[in-house]
Amino acid sequence: MITRYSAFLRNSPQSNIMAENSFDVIVIGSGPGGYVAAIRATQLGLKTAIIEKDKNMGGTCLNVGCIPSKSLLHSTEIYEFVSHKGKDHGIKVKGLEADVSSLMKKKDQVVNQLRGGIKALMKANKITVFNGFGKLKAQGKVEVDGKVIESKNIIIATGSQVVELPFLKFDGKTVVSSDQAIAFDSVPKKVVVVGAGAIGLELGSVWNRLGSDVTVVELLPRVAITFDHEISKQAERIFKKQGLKFELDAKVTGIKKKGKSTILTAEKKGAELEFPADKIIVCVGRKPYTDKLGLENLGIETDKQGRIVTDKARQTNVKGVYAIGDVTDGPMLAHKAEEEGVAVAEIIAGKAGHVNYDVIPNVIYTDPEIASVGISEQEAKEKGIEVKTGKFPFAANGRALASDAADGVVKVIACAKTDKLLGVQVLGKNASEIIGSAVTHMEYGGSAEDMARTIAAHPTISETLREAAMATDGWSIHSI
Ligand code: NAI
Repeated sequence: MITRYSAFLRNSPQSNIMAENSFDVIVIGSGPGGYVAAIRATQLGLKTAIIEKDKNMGGTCLNVGCIPSKSLLHSTEIYEFVSHKGKDHGIKVKGLEADVSSLMKKKDQVVNQLRGGIKALMKANKITVFNGFGKLKAQGKVEVDGKVIESKNIIIATGSQVVELPFLKFDGKTVVSSDQAIAFDSVPKKVVVVGAGAIGLELGSVWNRLGSDVTVVELLPRVAITFDHEISKQAERIFKKQGLKFELDAKVTGIKKKGKSTILTAEKKGAELEFPADKIIVCVGRKPYTDKLGLENLGIETDKQGRIVTDKARQTNVKGVYAIGDVTDGPMLAHKAEEEGVAVAEIIAGKAGHVNYDVIPNVIYTDPEIASVGISEQEAKEKGIEVKTGKFPFAANGRALASDAADGVVKVIACAKTDKLLGVQVLGKNASEIIGSAVTHMEYGGSAEDMARTIAAHPTISETLREAAMATDGWSIHSI
């Protein structure tokens, strides 16, 4: 919405007389953090420039992350469903096969359409786009491929890059990162995924559904470690039924050659394990991307993990220089970056920008999906908070059963004394959408009873959420 105030600012003489290379805000990086910050800044009447080094805007999320992986997950979920459950639903297909090149084409179409969307948004908002590498030169000055542009306010939104293990270097052929694993041109026979976090589980699922023999090797004792223990254990059991193999508590040590085959080696309880692999997809996390950014020119502080240090308003130790998204601390999630982009643009415009870090949803888009917001039961215990919990199984929900989605559970965690909602975990179909309602309740400081007494349409899978909330006080209607 354009307010009268912003319209006034946009048309004010001060904006018009600004030199061509001078801006109110310069954003470096056009991922979800950067481009959203740029749009919000112009909505507030600030003359804004955005710098992007890659040919396409949109950053990791759009080009090699969230969006292409969701397209592959959707396509392969349909394939998996028709292959394994189609017959039960009266769908008989002769000669069913997955055509990897069409699948990839579909993914590229989706990505291209959204790239076009961001371009259109930049144009509509009159944001100046510089295609080039942005480098901090001095306070208020940024160089883009030899040209210097100026602004009192600079937002660093340069994102993150994949972590490479020193003993498992990417070769782009056998040892690959997630960037390449969304673009294989055929289905590899044996895939070993290193890391059972969000990316490992999502990409492992994609290639497993297409017929690869997939083993996921994970250092820690559980998959999806950031989720509630019960939830991640149940998810692991479901993924195993789907054919994924897991080797937990196993530390990857390197690769070796045996004849023509590549073998990934790992150590588990003193023993060496060997995993022959046609593709090794390394998904062991991401690290902030600040290469050649010129942080040293301004003396911008970073921490041990290379993240840019900021205060609560996301301002760095240099006045007028802000950092948002993966390049700074907090979860590396697109929606966290977006929210920070909005907040920082508002702060620069003199408004009270704010991010509620306690209520950031987290989702893994496997089938079933895993989603959470707030704290888990274990985190509550660690913090010394007395909690009550309520659970409700998807198997007792009519819509879930009719949708062949009986695998799953909702778990609600509330304060034992006040009933305030502290966290919600959902394992099941549409968890990524269902969690939105939990986020809203928590954003408004809602209680488990508020959630229990909020009507959900029947039949919907969302009913599981209110039933789990009822269960925190022992009155779930549809469970025994
Ligand atoms: P991650 O940090 O989520 O998981 C990496 C896993 O690798 C951990 O479980 C870790 O214990 C394991 N690991 C580390 N070193 C290992 C070794 N030597 N051997 C075996 N296992 C090892 O990282 P991931 O999945 O690469 O994702 C990167 C970032 O991107 C995360 O912050 C994630 O939240 C974000 N992301 C979010 C998505 C979503 O919201 N659906 C999708 C994709 C990424």
